[in-house]
Amino acid sequence: MIGADRYRTHTCLGAAAALGERVRVSGWVHRRRDHGGVVFIDLRDRSGLLQLVFHPGEGEGAMDVAAGDLSPEDVVSVAGEVVARDPATVNPALATGAVELRADSLEMLSEADPLPFSVEDENQEASEELRLTYRYLDVRRPRRLRALEMRSRVTAAMRRVLDDEGFLEVETPVLTRSTPEGARDFLVPSRLQRGSWYALPQSPQLFKQLLMVGGLERYYQVVRCFRDEDLRADRQPEFTQLDLEASFVEPADVQRLVERVLEESFAAAGAEIAAPFPRMSYAEAMRRFGTDRPDLRYGMEILDWTERAAASGFGVFEGAVGAGGVVRALVVPGAGSGVSRKVGDELMAEARELGAKGLVWAAVEEDGGLRSPVARFLGGLAGDLGAAPGDLVAMVADAEPVAQSVLGTLRVRFAERHGLVPEGAWAPVWIVDFPLVEWNADEDRWDSLHHPFTAPSPEDVERLESDPGAVRSLAYDVVLNGLEIGGGSIRIHDRAVQERVFALIGLGEEEAEAKFGFLLRALRLGAPPHGGIALGLDRLVMLLAGERSIRDVIAFPKTATGADPLTGAPSSVDPLQLRELGVRPAAAEQPGRASG
Ligand code: AMO
Ligand code: AMP
Repeated sequence: MIGADRYRTHTCLGAAAALGERVRVSGWVHRRRDHGGVVFIDLRDRSGLLQLVFHPGEGEGAMDVAAGDLSPEDVVSVAGEVVARDPATVNPALATGAVELRADSLEMLSEADPLPFSVEDENQEASEELRLTYRYLDVRRPRRLRALEMRSRVTAAMRRVLDDEGFLEVETPVLTRSTPEGARDFLVPSRLQRGSWYALPQSPQLFKQLLMVGGLERYYQVVRCFRDEDLRADRQPEFTQLDLEASFVEPADVQRLVERVLEESFAAAGAEIAAPFPRMSYAEAMRRFGTDRPDLRYGMEILDWTERAAASGFGVFEGAVGAGGVVRALVVPGAGSGVSRKVGDELMAEARELGAKGLVWAAVEEDGGLRSPVARFLGGLAGDLGAAPGDLVAMVADAEPVAQSVLGTLRVRFAERHGLVPEGAWAPVWIVDFPLVEWNADEDRWDSLHHPFTAPSPEDVERLESDPGAVRSLAYDVVLNGLEIGGGSIRIHDRAVQERVFALIGLGEEEAEAKFGFLLRALRLGAPPHGGIALGLDRLVMLLAGERSIRDVIAFPKTATGADPLTGAPSSVDPLQLRELGVRPAAAEQPGRASG
């Protein structure tokens, strides 16, 4: 064992298997209890906890007194004999709970000051700001530690699969040019070429394609990506992808490979997932679930009541249908009885916040009748939608995309609110047949739905100019429990098609040449058909670890404002540094100058 001569012969967990032996362990003082002169210390190292016992008068020096003076998180090295615990004191909740270490020597390695928050008591509330300021203390808490351990095991499993399949791990530049993935770039000024800037990669997309042109055939990388966008529980400004690319492949090849990678990742995390994953078209996902990342752990699909609503006599519904809209509904099992007028009003407000004009609710009573402010217009509703006594029906009338997206969001919230999400279930799905582009009404142009290097479906290529909205792409997303954990596609390897797609999204020839000339040139010099995918490692590990934020599975994450309270990043810099870089600070931030 590493350090065996000086610091330890066993880990805490390892000591449990060394009954009767004299061992040395090192770690942190987790907890101390004094029982009439006998001192009990729970020693913690990465492997877990071990109970140490110091009897008065035993061992070197006044060891029991020294042990009685230990503070939480002091670092000590202790030797002694591993003995069986008295049956009455065996702790079955602890992996080492059948033994204890009868200490005969104690060495203080490092004393700890009073702590800003308890490491021992994981339930002690500490603000996220405080926990991130002392992230290394937070990481000592078993829950964090387990997440980082799991992350490491998952990454190792991914590397094993890809290595086995002949993929080469290649590093690509971090100081580079903009790669468009739909976010803002982080920029780094160049000192040697004043006035020029590097961009940090939003992904290694272009480099991995160039590696395919370079004949590598199979590439992967566990890679940091940088995106300056608004942060959420599932987004960080820097995050990690398992990025991969292969030549001479079709979508099914990439999908099968990813299924294997995920099977092994799950196994490494002590879980199980069944492949092959189901496939669902984008159109079907949008229709049934109102989103392209449907959570398939439960049903509660979006239902259509447009035809009946048009003749219901209810002005709001008839108006919406008359204007070309739809009336869509969700049936929430068992959620009807709790709905009062007040709760109904709150639901309505919630729907409005999501962009609906309103929401109609109806609770199905025991006798099959409806309780709703507009019950008189809803004849036949329960039967049409298959709603049973006790169920709640929530309806939105609007243009189809609005109704679908509002109900898609409410579906997820209802499922969580009413306990309809089955515990421990895994529901992966491939979303396929995405549209290549979507209309951006604000900018009055077509935008790529994924990135602009995504190949159009061969059977739709001819419609690129005549009917762009109907062109599907060879893109695929992998969705797990309602979270997009990966996205990829077959790429365009034909220069002419790439130029047509650039033109379609409003990238003129000159601009395309200036931004992506290096890619277009490569496509002219023998580019094999290729495709790949990137998995969001943080999101995957978050799901596997049962956490609700990717911050919980990242060693040193940033807050919602992109700050790191531990180091104080981002921070101001020396004006001299800026001068060297040829960068002038914005007026408001110059020291000694009034803002404005
Ligand atoms: P995409 O942009 O879909 O594709 O990213 C792939 C996966 O990365 C994860 N992800 C994030 N995770 C945490 N924080 C973020 N800010 C963040 N943004 C994305 C998601 C997502 O599914 N180059 C393409 C891949 C390809 O085409 O091969 C790309 O980056 O889980
Ligand atoms: P109003 O006519 O705005 O007073 O709304 C009457 C009822 O219909 C209220 O319960 C509203 O929440 C509901 N409502 C209004 N607009 C819509 C809509 N587009 N879809 C569903 N319900 C609506």
